[in-house]
Parts: sequence; structure tokens; C-alpha cells
Amino acid sequence: MKEFVKLVIDGKELTLPVIEGSEGEKAIDIRSLRQETGYITFDPGFGNSGTCRSTITYMDGEKGILRYRGVPIEQLAEQSTFVETAFLLIAGHLPSREELTRTSVYLNDFSPLHENMKAFYQNYPPKAHPMGILSAMVNAMRSFYPELLDIEEDMNKTYLRLISKIRTMSAMAYRISLGEKVVYPRPDLCYCANFLNMMFDGVVVPYRIDDDMVRALNVFWILHADHEQNCSTTAVRVVGSGKVNIYSAISAGISALWGPLHGGANQAVVNMLEEIHKDGMTVKECISKAKDPNDPFRLYGFGHRVYKTHDPRAKIMKKMCDILLAKTKRKDPLLDIVQKLEETALNDSYFKEKNLYPNVDFYSGIVLRAMGIPTNMFTVMFAIGRLPGWIAQWKEDVADPEMRISRPRQVYTGNQLQEYIPVDDRG
Ligand code: CMC
Repeated sequence: MKEFVKLVIDGKELTLPVIEGSEGEKAIDIRSLRQETGYITFDPGFGNSGTCRSTITYMDGEKGILRYRGVPIEQLAEQSTFVETAFLLIAGHLPSREELTRTSVYLNDFSPLHENMKAFYQNYPPKAHPMGILSAMVNAMRSFYPELLDIEEDMNKTYLRLISKIRTMSAMAYRISLGEKVVYPRPDLCYCANFLNMMFDGVVVPYRIDDDMVRALNVFWILHADHEQNCSTTAVRVVGSGKVNIYSAISAGISALWGPLHGGANQAVVNMLEEIHKDGMTVKECISKAKDPNDPFRLYGFGHRVYKTHDPRAKIMKKMCDILLAKTKRKDPLLDIVQKLEETALNDSYFKEKNLYPNVDFYSGIVLRAMGIPTNMFTVMFAIGRLPGWIAQWKEDVADPEMRISRPRQVYTGNQLQEYIPVDDRG
């Protein structure tokens, strides 16, 4: 039976329909509100606003559930690969063996970069942040690869071109920032092994591909592949709603991801741990700073808009961290600090009362360090992982008959009407 809610405004009763999702989530459909009453809703940060119906990712923040197209994140992390998960997110179903093979062939075919695009890199200042370079390069793809294919196709070549080239562009940005020779993609390697090889294969010392590292990278990217309507995905949808091309929409997502409250948190966590390690700050000071309402500092890697319990991705990331450090027989001094911070925060009444738990970024920096990834590439690693989610969400958005250009309202609190005063009369 269809459900409704009644809203009384200025004595006028409005009946609003309720939309129910497949997992029982409910939303009041307020689309007629302004037209019927002149009122709008006020919800900074959209914490209570649904902006679309979506079939891609399901999260339950109270129970710590995350599923892509219905499949639990734990099963994907255990058994899938990043490429297969990307296919699942974008096409909506797990690929057949034949679809998977075809996808791999295209990913290989598209992996080299247009020679003229490389000139871009050479002209960036040496310490330029790779996220800035990456978002510019992805936007530039519209000019270098102008053909945009039919979005009706489940997994079209434009999506595969993006997924393939973001890996080449990211590894290349890193090599050039070190002043090292670019390593080209190898058709005999899978997606993750190819990336590690492009990053680390030295001219003198060849990179030895390690299956455990390749597996760890697959898991890392699977965990980041989508997270429903987060900040960067919302940026992709909002920018895309103006009917801009997919490259520009994804480039906006990369820029949005860069901030320390979102994808940049993985770099911020390691910077924070290093500061504690250098004795610049103690764990206790770090926790007090994070709790001080007058200090903008936050305990990076903690808290989440949706999760009010453990982030399921953080649990998997923590496990992977132990596996990788045991494997590399490396003792990372930051690991002890991260564990001490976690224990202190989880027993602190401030964090308990506000339901602040470790999120995916709390342990991801340690995992990336164990793989040899430098700190300034951490957010780029997140971006590569999130790309399939952005594509899936963009694709869903442009095909959705209910979607309109994103254009929120505001409550104006500025000056009321005042007369213009010519400059000579202003005193
Ligand atoms: N350290 C200290 N206090 C915090 C933290 C934190 N990490 N996170 C939230 N709070 C406090 C916040 O000050 C606020 O207190 P009060 O109610 O007294 O004003 C309360 O908890 C609620 O926080 P909020 O900022 O209103 O919550 P939000 O949903 O707007 O923000 C968040 C979510 C993730 C931006 C925030 O928890 C945060 O800044 N965390 C640190 C950055 C971080 O780790 N980001 C990565 C998120 S996971 C990766 C991703 O998907 O982007």
C-alpha cells in the first residue's frame, strides 16, 4: 500500500508521497513543496536529503553494511578482482568469462597514452601534487579522445578507456615527479600488476611482481570502488547534470576527492602519524586537539557521515595491513601509533558519544606504505579505485528520466533592497 505523510504549513495541509527503497529505507517526496507552499527545505551538507534513486551501492551506517549491486563488500574483497568489481558496478552484473576477457583486452589496448599528452607532464613544476595533474589530464582527455560512445552499452569503450588510462597517467605522474624514465604498460600483466610495474620498475633493478602485493592492491581498489552519494560522487552527478561530457564530470570528482575531509584523509592520517612519530605531538595531545571545538584539527581517519559503527572497509583494511607487514617483515613505526590512537579514541567519551569509529582511511596509509606507495600518491590511489563508482553513478544519472539539472535553492540572508551610490558620492 502506498504511504503518505501530511505536512501542515500556514494552515494548509499537504499530502506528500513516501518513496521506499528495496532495503526498506524511506524518503518523503517533497518535489511539490515549493510550488504548493512557497517553502523550501534547509539541509546544509545534504545529510537528510536523497537526490536520486540508485541501484548501485547499498550502505547501512548503523549496521556497518556495504554492498555493491547487492554483493557484500567482504565477499568481493575476498574473491573478486578490481576489474571484475568495476564491471559489476558499471554494467550492473558480474561479467561472464567472455565479458571479462573482452574487458581485459580493451584495458590493454587503451593503456598507452597519446604522445602529446605526455608533454603536459613535462611542463608541470616538479613538486606539483599528482591529484592536480590527474584532474587536469582527465579533463584533457575530451580533446584527445573526442569520440564519446553510446551510453546505452553496458560497458562501453569510453569507460574502459578511462579506467585504463587513469592507471597509466597516475604511474606516469609519479615517475616524472621523480625525474625518472616513464615505464610503459605491458600487455602480459593484469591491471594491478601493470600499475605496480609502471610505478616501480627501475632501469637498473627490475621490479619483481609479487602476487601478495597484487592481491593487496586489488583489495585496496575494491574497497574504494564506490560509496554511494559521497562528496566526489555528488560532484560528478552535479557537474554531469549540466550534460557536460563524462571526462569533465570525472575530473570534477577527482578535484572533490582531493580534500582532507574526503579522499585526502589518507594522506592527512599519515602526516598526522608522522608528526606524532617525530615527537611533534603526543597521542594524548592529538586526541585533545581533535576534541577541542576551537581547533580545526580533526582525528583524520575517524568519523563518517553514514557509518555510526565500524566502517566495514576499515576492518578489511586493518586485516590487510597485518598481512602485508608480516609478509614484508617490515616494522612500520607508524603502526604502533595508529593502534594506540585507535584504542585511545575508542575508549574516549567524546568519540563514543559522537559514534566516531575508524573509517577506511585510518589504516589505508599503512597499507599503501607497505606497498611502497609514496604519501603524495595516496589520494591518487583512492581516485583510481573510485573511478568505476563515478562512472556507474554518472551513467545512472544521465539515463534517469527523473533527473534534472542540479540547482538547489537558498535562504537569502543578505541586504534588503538598497540604492546604488555612484563612487564619487560614497564619501
Ligand atoms: N575528529 C574529531 N571530531 C570529529 C571527527 C574527527 N575525525 N569527526 C567528526 N567529529 C565531530 C565533529 O566535530 C562534530 O562535533 P559537534 O557535534 O560537537 O559539532 C561531530 O563529530 C559530527 O561531525 P560532523 O563534522 O558534523 O560530521 P560530518 O558527517 O559532517 O563529517 C567527516 C564526516 C568524515 C567529514 C568527519 O567525521 C571528519 O572530518 N573526519 C575526519 C576526516 C576523515 O577521516 N575523512 C575520511 C572519511 S572516509 C573516506 C571517504 O569516504 O571520504
